[in-house]
Amino acid sequence: MKLTKSSCFPACPGPVVTIVLDGVGISPREDGDAVKAARTPNLDRYMASYPMTKLLAHGTAVGMPSDEDMGNSEVGHNAFGAGRVFAQGAKLVAESISSGHLWQGQAWHDVIATAKQGGTLHFLGLFSDGNVHSHIDHLKAMIEQAKQAGVAKVRLHILLDGRDVGETSALDYVDPFEAYLDGLRSTDFDVAIASGGGRMQITMDRYEADWSMVKRGWDIHVLGLGRQFASAHEAIETFRNETNVIDQDLPGFVIAKDGKPLGTIVDGDAVVFFNFRGDRAIEISRAFIEEQFSPFERGPLPKVTYAGMMQYDGDTKLPPRFLVEPPTIDRTLGEYLAKNGISQYAISETQKFGHVTYFWNGNRSGKFDEASETYVEIPSDVVPFEQRPWMKCAEITDALIAAVRSGKYQYLRVNYANGDMVGHTGNFEAAVTAMQGLDLQLARLIPVILEMNGTAIITADHGNADEMYELDKKGNVTRNAEGRTKAKTSHTLNPVPFVLISRENPGYQLRQDLPKAGLSNVAATILNLLGFDAPEAYDPSLIEAQ
Ligand code: 3PG
Ligand code: CO
Repeated sequence: MKLTKSSCFPACPGPVVTIVLDGVGISPREDGDAVKAARTPNLDRYMASYPMTKLLAHGTAVGMPSDEDMGNSEVGHNAFGAGRVFAQGAKLVAESISSGHLWQGQAWHDVIATAKQGGTLHFLGLFSDGNVHSHIDHLKAMIEQAKQAGVAKVRLHILLDGRDVGETSALDYVDPFEAYLDGLRSTDFDVAIASGGGRMQITMDRYEADWSMVKRGWDIHVLGLGRQFASAHEAIETFRNETNVIDQDLPGFVIAKDGKPLGTIVDGDAVVFFNFRGDRAIEISRAFIEEQFSPFERGPLPKVTYAGMMQYDGDTKLPPRFLVEPPTIDRTLGEYLAKNGISQYAISETQKFGHVTYFWNGNRSGKFDEASETYVEIPSDVVPFEQRPWMKCAEITDALIAAVRSGKYQYLRVNYANGDMVGHTGNFEAAVTAMQGLDLQLARLIPVILEMNGTAIITADHGNADEMYELDKKGNVTRNAEGRTKAKTSHTLNPVPFVLISRENPGYQLRQDLPKAGLSNVAATILNLLGFDAPEAYDPSLIEAQ
């Protein structure tokens, strides 16, 4: 993995810093765009006075099945870090199902064998067609296949979305799904929803930001401890009447008959966690797998056959049993730099820490080289982020400025979570504040990078805050009867900025002949800025010598 010194690009005399403004896309429209509505004089100035282009950050440009698929942080950071586009989980699972490959694997055989010995087969995961963490079609295909294989009892534990799909769309999924289950049910096939809750309340924590979410999920799904309802529909309606929260924040519920939960998870059962994306799958998987486990009190660990949709962590091999091979993302930028003596620094706050480490490094939680890599996590607040839209951007900047000034690192990367995490709340005013907070940090950081003779790249992994109002199919803003806009909590299909900031004429310019450039073109650019030729297999650099 030796890199060759470039004959066209001299190494930048100072550090090269990639600044990922998570969830900050460029929308073609004005209304609902918190990025435009915010007062961001610094970002505006950098965009106007330095070389800038737009990068594709969604769909096939980042390895999603189609261009209707929005981008997300996993595929975005994978593309940044790998310098190439890999077919991603959403695509690999869909292909494995349509080719029938999934049913031939050992993991599926183990799951079915367990269920046929009398255990219940449980499916647990994010219940929507968002295609960011999961897809409901994958779930349906598995239920049908289980029925065909002769499994007698299936229980479903559904995590309501409202974050990758419409904020209050849960019943659009639940109601047709109940009708679908009615059609499948027979005297020898017993299938039912057993538990559920909003994905930001139970089960799907990430990067150990709040283990209490996973405990609440465990209690609901495994132990059947929680408020009881006759159906998921009833639970959702009741909670909506009682509280004012959107789907992702609905409390957990247990479906019960005569006071008895329909589907607790017990010895001899099989459990499939059907999310393909790893960040929010790792903690619950650990809870099912680890014999020694300290994050919360589980009670006796049920002996189940546990399978993930994918292997979520290539370093720890978690979980050991999985249905579909993950993309083999190899020879990443981080690995090349580590093996060529370039010191690296990565920083974010908890909510996005794994994005600049684990996702950036091809879904591996470890480092390539302990000695030359420093990873810094600033602990995130555990609050709804519309209450703290500035999040930890100032603290991140404090640490990053110190790292830049230290002169110890040749390559640094940072993810600022604000545009995305606040964008996901659907709160327009908070998203505007988030952007303004970020802008202040850019005004602190960029001058220091320039002072150190460095180069800064300002970019983003996908859009979010750039579209805060839900649009109808024709692209018009959706309004309710009172004329109020409906909040859009999910990512967008918009491109993202790529701004290249350096002190004086650096001897290179942005290429104009790459109209379809995307996030995967950034890695080769970084290598050029560090004075190396990019490996052949990498997508082309965005710069050329002048
Ligand atoms: C989440 O997990 O919060 C969303 O589904 C996707 O957001 P991210 O891709 O920006 O992390
Ligand atoms: Co997001």
